[in-house]
Amino acid sequence: MMSVRSLPLLCLCFWSSESLYRVPLKMFSGKLDSSVLLSALKRNQSASGDGLSLASDLAGNVNFLSMVDNLEGDAGRGYYLQMVIGTPGQTLNILVDTGSSNFAVAAATHPYVSTYFNRALSSTYKPSGKSVSVRYTQGDWQGELGSDFISIPQGPNGTIVINIAAILTSDGFFLPGINWQGILGLAYPLLARPDPSVEPFFDSLVKQTGIPDVFSLQMCGAGISASTATNPADGSLIMGGLEPTLYRGSMWYTPIIQEWYYQVEVLKLEVGGKNLHLDCREYNSDKAIVDSGTTLLRLPVKVFDAVVEAITQMSMIQDFSSGFFSGTKLACWMKGESPWGFFPKISIYLRATNTSQSFRLTILPQLYIQLVADMDGTLNCFRFGISSSTNGLVIGATVMEGFYVAFDRAHKRVGFAVSACAEGNGIPVAEISGPFLADGVASGCTDGLRLQEPLMWVVAYTLMALCALVLLILLALIVVPCRCRRRDGEITDESSLVRNRIK
Ligand SMILES: *[C@@H]1O[C@H](CO)[C@@H](O)[C@H](O)[C@H]1NC(C)=O
Ligand SMILES: *[C@@H]1O[C@H](CO)[C@@H](O)[C@H](O)[C@H]1NC(C)=O
Ligand SMILES: *[C@@H]1O[C@H](CO)[C@@H](O)[C@H](O)[C@H]1NC(C)=O
Repeated sequence: MMSVRSLPLLCLCFWSSESLYRVPLKMFSGKLDSSVLLSALKRNQSASGDGLSLASDLAGNVNFLSMVDNLEGDAGRGYYLQMVIGTPGQTLNILVDTGSSNFAVAAATHPYVSTYFNRALSSTYKPSGKSVSVRYTQGDWQGELGSDFISIPQGPNGTIVINIAAILTSDGFFLPGINWQGILGLAYPLLARPDPSVEPFFDSLVKQTGIPDVFSLQMCGAGISASTATNPADGSLIMGGLEPTLYRGSMWYTPIIQEWYYQVEVLKLEVGGKNLHLDCREYNSDKAIVDSGTTLLRLPVKVFDAVVEAITQMSMIQDFSSGFFSGTKLACWMKGESPWGFFPKISIYLRATNTSQSFRLTILPQLYIQLVADMDGTLNCFRFGISSSTNGLVIGATVMEGFYVAFDRAHKRVGFAVSACAEGNGIPVAEISGPFLADGVASGCTDGLRLQEPLMWVVAYTLMALCALVLLILLALIVVPCRCRRRDGEITDESSLVRNRIK
């Protein structure tokens, strides 16, 4: 909801900044072969040693291979896991979300869910009498807390008792076209509602089955159209460790700097190999998190603006509409032409576990210029997989689809390795490299931003006033034409709410 309201404003802002700072763009015929611009990565089938204490042969009590491909879904509508709830078991699809901490399922009919958890039919369901509600950036729900037995057909063996929030009413939470009926919050107790005493699912799983306190996530939707409901992508949620066949090369770890969300520290961003040169605290304002339940790569407004400007300068596309970058428009190319060769790679540098070092995640345009629609059989339409955020940087599905991501809670770190399924035409669409010296950012990037001098305040307020004035004038002049203007090669992404599920 919030994102919709902010769109016209963003649209205007980009329009103005482009007209002020526009740099002449190079023109290309539109016939570039993207593969020429992509550097091929050497594949390495063998998993690296790299100090990993966990592998599929771990003590023999967990078989990770049986969990491979236990997810279905896509970045737009999320990846879900089949779970069996209650006695006798009721089978439901549950969205995997590393950005929240409640396990909640539909417990009443809703137009957008095909089935729901019927508490009356479960002999083991225990209501707690407490009510609970959760707000997400998009959508919310209210319900009743209880507990029941669950099992996961393609998960660790056994049946465990977990806290369940039975969703009775909701608004904007279940959406058209989703194929899930509940949410599995995999973050820490601090985020659990109504309070941290409601033990999250994974904490219960570790306690009751004795599996190691690690899970890992592979989402295989890279390059698959986000709007083809008929053919969802696969993914894997490996509970208890890492499955070596799901990644190539080394796993790189970044410390979890606070255990609530999976909060990490971003040191630097590069677009097309060029450092954005922002104060590193901008990247972490007010936090940087890894969240499978967020569709896009979300960047704090200032960082987003810098990234869009850098892409605009490098993308070699003449007169590219700002509506594309603000998410209100799709960009379409003739079938057979690929737009990816026009766009730069984007790299995110994360603090390494050796805090004087960093490593970088690189996503190719195949991940952030996302195919969403096929028009008339003649056009392929793409959306921009990055959006601006007022509540922190979110490494969402756009980035995660390039990597196999290990949530190593036991060692308070998140690991990234190139995902074995993130390939377009046999070429990896994600890269990872390091170590780099984290010089210049040896101190914390998460201390929060402070304006150092009174002069800065004067400058800041003057600029704000100026910007407000410019905006007002622009508004008066053009009365928000961005969303309705149609040009050749552009269509309005009317259903973006469905595909841009944003928290
Ligand atoms: C693949 O990884 C193994 C173990 O890390 C290493 O010994 C080998 O040299 C690597 N091969 C290539 C081609 O990089
Ligand atoms: C569950 O137990 C069965 C039989 O002991 C075994 O074959 C299977 O691999 C186990 N699955 C997991 C996920 O550990
Ligand atoms: C951490 O990185 C620094 C810089 O590369 C290096 O000098 C140091 O030996 C590393 N420390 C450990 C424990 O590996």
